[in-house]
Amino acid sequence: MDTLLLARLQFATTTSIHFLFVVVTLGLVTLLVGMQTAWVLTGNPRWERLTRYWGQLYVINYVLGIATGIVMEFQFGLNWSGLSRYVGNVFGAPLAIETLVAFFLESTFLGMWIFGWHRLRRGVHLALLWGVALTAYASAFWIMVANSWLQHPVGYEVRDGIAHLTDFGALLTNPSLGMAFGHVVSAALLVGGMLMAAVSAWHLIRRTPDFVLFRTSLRIGLVTAALAITLVQGFGFAQFGPVGEVQPTKFGQGPEAQELIAEWTIRFGPGDYTPPVLANVGLGFMILIGFTLGCVWLLLPLLFRDWVIRLRFPLWLILLALPLPFVAVILGWIAREVGRQPWVAYGLLPTDQAVSQVGAPVMLASLIGFSLLLGALAVTNWVLLARHAARGADDPALGRPPAPPNEPAHPEPALA
Ligand code: HEM
Repeated sequence: MDTLLLARLQFATTTSIHFLFVVVTLGLVTLLVGMQTAWVLTGNPRWERLTRYWGQLYVINYVLGIATGIVMEFQFGLNWSGLSRYVGNVFGAPLAIETLVAFFLESTFLGMWIFGWHRLRRGVHLALLWGVALTAYASAFWIMVANSWLQHPVGYEVRDGIAHLTDFGALLTNPSLGMAFGHVVSAALLVGGMLMAAVSAWHLIRRTPDFVLFRTSLRIGLVTAALAITLVQGFGFAQFGPVGEVQPTKFGQGPEAQELIAEWTIRFGPGDYTPPVLANVGLGFMILIGFTLGCVWLLLPLLFRDWVIRLRFPLWLILLALPLPFVAVILGWIAREVGRQPWVAYGLLPTDQAVSQVGAPVMLASLIGFSLLLGALAVTNWVLLARHAARGADDPALGRPPAPPNEPAHPEPALA
């Protein structure tokens, strides 16, 4: 295998695994904000228990997700030096903002939220969680700004063989950005909703004594998933407009695509400018899953009746459907990224010119190393999530009230 293919495999592996963490974080934090806000507004202790239980799962996923993000950024810098050199002046700004927002602001808010239980006033504590959520969305936004630029470069000029940013506003109004951001955010909400519904379904199947609590989170998860899948479909179909306009070679080969390929052949020389068929396969299966998950709307009214919940069968359906949104997220990513090939920056920088000058054995070694590391982080995450989810909501460590000062059982005799 050559260096380019190995580097692309490494990018695909690290990004996909990292992305699985990101969608859970983004989806769950939104639900947490809703639950903690409900607690502060109503004072109902059930909301506090829900916030602590789901908050603990959120924190586990966040911590391991950050570790996967560091590995991903590391491979980015290591393997794609041609990209950094050519578009670093444009691309660096959004990525730097993302790193500052995600790693510093968001983590600081989260740390204060974790250790602020029973120490901070309720309103301040809630504001911290809002801070975590808003910075999470901001960081997703900047990543999509950077990715959208690669899909459709705008607001730049090339001087001395290097792209320079000339119009920051154009980055934000990129036609490749708006619908894609809406699509990704609603996909994350779908993942969060399905995860909450599936874990709750599992507890209800096992006839948990905490029936009322998990019935509440089952319904919150399902309502979120139902609303989110509608948004996913809406933004998903709306994306075909901009994609057809700015990337005619993606998902189709109409006359505009042929014209563009002829132009590229003159500018860059003859070559294969058609994206691999894998992009269309990813797109097709993602849409199939999108329609299948639309069936959540059918389950929703049923699961608002306790006797249906006690039947268990619909709960099994929710549990078994849990992998689907995760698979769809990866398929969507494949459709978007593979569909852009053979370009790393569409029509501007061919992928084979962006890869670092590294020998294939070295690239293979780092591919194996990073894949094992990220695989281990992903497995650890899922084992920890499953273990903590299974323990139930009786007394999660997150937000546990401080123990009263211990009375010594056998007081020491007074010293003479
Ligand atoms: C009817 C259903 C769906 C339609 C019509 C649809 C449409 C699309 C299209 C056209 C793209 C490619 C955008 C591009 O290349 O610029 C895409 C990408 C993507 N899709 Fe979907 N999709 C659907 C369902 C889903 C589902 C169920 C998920 C996940 C839960 C999902 C997650 C993604 C992701 C993560 C991407 C790549 C990121 C991005 O768009 O920026 N999609 N989708």
